[in-house]
Amino acid sequence: MNPLNHVAIIMDGNGRWGLKHKNSRNEGHRFGLNTVEKIIKETIKQKIRYLTLYAFSTENWNRPKKEIDYLFKLLENFLLKKIQDLNKQNIKLKIIGSKKFSKKLNKLLISSEKKTSKNTTLQINLALNYGSKFEILSAVKKIIKNKDIINEKNFRKYLQTNHTPDPELLIRTGNTKRLSNFLLWQSAYAEIFFEKKLWPDFNEKDYINIIKKYKRIKRNFGNI
Ligand code: IPE
Ligand code: IPE
Ligand code: MG
Repeated sequence: MNPLNHVAIIMDGNGRWGLKHKNSRNEGHRFGLNTVEKIIKETIKQKIRYLTLYAFSTENWNRPKKEIDYLFKLLENFLLKKIQDLNKQNIKLKIIGSKKFSKKLNKLLISSEKKTSKNTTLQINLALNYGSKFEILSAVKKIIKNKDIINEKNFRKYLQTNHTPDPELLIRTGNTKRLSNFLLWQSAYAEIFFEKKLWPDFNEKDYINIIKKYKRIKRNFGNI
């Protein structure tokens, strides 16, 4: 059975779910948070050490301001309400992406990271204002500036996920088959599952099924 240390998830489909069930995209984002909590709990149960969640891409700034404002308000409220709980569950929160938000949100993100920095059960990388191309270009600039030797092993140290092994499993919900600028370098050998369900409908059972399937895949890494 394949080992599983790191799951990465593109949580897609909130807007469509919200429109369908509540006539509001934002309601979909709100309900999507329930799935986030369920999946975090199950990840701990499954003894997986790293979970990377794509919450806001560098391209998501193209959305209407009203939706963007709602998303960040939702995140702010979630952290204010749940950070103690995450801390109690021994979860370490790490933000990947550029922290270019309001002063208030930046402060909250930094304090949430600090508060949980010593925790060891599960590391959650929350991808916020994250874009893989930007991440790779920044890494290239830094490695050149440092006059470091350019090879794979060194290069990964300059990525924002330097603290994390590459994901073995990548899941995208929402019935769309693309990576949308997520972990392009890190997912070079990930097993990718595209799930039809919209994120608010995705549950522990679906997650466990994917994990089971993943564990039985013959992973070749170029071998036969
Ligand atoms: C993903 O859901 C969440 C974010 C990008 C913040 P979407 O909002 O993209 O939902 P759909 O794809 O429009 O249904
Ligand atoms: C990807 O979803 C980003 C997140 C889930 C945060 P999008 O819904 O933004 O992706 P595209 O625009 O359909 O590719
Ligand atoms: Mg989408």
